Amino acid sequence: MKIAIINGPNLNLLGKREPGVYGNQSFEEYFETLKDLFPGVNITYYQSNIEGEIVDAIQKFGFDYDGIVINPAAYTHTSVAIGDAIAAIKAPVVEVHISNVHAREDFRKLSHVSAKAKGSIFGLGLKGYELAIRSLIA
Ligand code: DQA
Repeated sequence: MKIAIINGPNLNLLGKREPGVYGNQSFEEYFETLKDLFPGVNITYYQSNIEGEIVDAIQKFGFDYDGIVINPAAYTHTSVAIGDAIAAIKAPVVEVHISNVHAREDFRKLSHVSAKAKGSIFGLGLKGYELAIRSLIA
């Protein structure tokens, strides 16, 4: 089974970025924990700060992988292109947000992804990625 994790802009700064909101751990470090949790799953990690590159990654993984876990970060709230790419592919997609986007600024309440996703997880920290993978392999 192959699952791709796609992270959007500024998530390369996890651990350094607003630790009160996003925690103290880098995604690279957490990714090692994730791989240990799912030894039978081939998990690929991709991060980009560029909207079009995220669309390219969705298209690349979306016809070949069994599932995608995506945190489009700020593009969640702005990108029709990312929502359209998710609608276009075959693989089921689970949307993850580390913070509770519904308890923050109003502009974070709009998602161009949620309606196209199998489900959405928000506010559970990095654990949301683990839960998303569990939902895809269940
Ligand atoms: C985020 C929430 C977004 O609103 C924000 O722009 C991010 C991270 C989250 O994981 O909580 O960069 O997607």
